[in-house]
Amino acid sequence: MSIVSPTYENIVKAAQILRSGGLVSFPTETVYGVGANALDESAVKKIFAVKGRPATNPLIVHISSLADLPAITGPLPSLLSTKIEKLSAFWPGPLSLVLPASPSLPRVVTAGLATVAVRIPSHPIAQELIREAGIPIAAPSANRSSYVSPTTAQHVADGLGDSLEIILNGGPCTIGLESTILSLMSDTPVLLRAGAVTREELETALGKIEVRRSAESGSEAVSSPGLLKEHYCPHTPVVLYGAPVSGYSRIGFISFGVQPTRSHDTHFETVITLSKNGNLNEVANRLFSALRDLDKIGLDLIVIDTCDAQGLGLAIMDRITRAAARTQK
Ligand code: TXA
Ligand code: MG
Repeated sequence: MSIVSPTYENIVKAAQILRSGGLVSFPTETVYGVGANALDESAVKKIFAVKGRPATNPLIVHISSLADLPAITGPLPSLLSTKIEKLSAFWPGPLSLVLPASPSLPRVVTAGLATVAVRIPSHPIAQELIREAGIPIAAPSANRSSYVSPTTAQHVADGLGDSLEIILNGGPCTIGLESTILSLMSDTPVLLRAGAVTREELETALGKIEVRRSAESGSEAVSSPGLLKEHYCPHTPVVLYGAPVSGYSRIGFISFGVQPTRSHDTHFETVITLSKNGNLNEVANRLFSALRDLDKIGLDLIVIDTCDAQGLGLAIMDRITRAAARTQK
């Protein structure tokens, strides 16, 4: 088993693995990542291989401070620097920005795009690892491609364990949903993926932003790779609360503490309650764990509660709608 505690010695060892072209899994405040040296093309290719990720889906580059940004993006026009400055309250934190990519960045990281997604995570272990390694770290979520993102070290080991030398164990992630992705490549910024930095907070900082909905068609999915409609799918079929459940016998329910957990026409064999009263921070924090837990017990169907698509609720609704996309085809 490659799960190790995040002692200084283990972080130094993980940093050495990264510098020598290997892969390391590490915690961030959002989800666990699987990282490689972003400047090393063959190291980055290993990420795509272990995840089974299509080469058309670009990676997020993680740096420890703003001082490291120009090495990833090249020199930025002052208009962009001003926008980044307005977002400084969210960095370090759960926000990824899509910016111009420096020509020196290997194109395997950006899947051939001229843009790159960059994030400064706030998690102390991620911060220490990036600083100790002294290189930018390209890291997607540490799950098999299109499965649920990992929020504990054990989740990483369950999905990718055999292919990783080290999984740094930081305990459960505090946020539990992947970062907000905001593109600054057009005059009006575009929210590509909702997350814990909310649309409302971004609009307060930057003014109007555009919200991209999940891609409906394959071609749109390629031009906006962060928006693949069917994603975060457990193996068990998923529907949102209120959808028909006839024909399924063993049904589990993930409750947000919003809808009743007992219903006279549906019997829920198992109920996981994420929050007693619809607290969305608690829902976000425990959602992926609950999906993984219910996916292991041989149910025919997982029903998920819903919430208003506002604030953090926009990110929660995005993830559960995508988890249900395969079932609703
Ligand atoms: O919270 C997170 O963002 C986690 C942690 C580990 O940092 N990472 C993560 O990475 O969720 P990943 O690869 O699972 O999701 C990154 C998303 C992908 O959907 C990818 O298509 C999109 O970001 N993306 C990356 N670069 C992009 C770019 N240049 N333009 C548009 N979307 C991009
Ligand atoms: Mg992912």
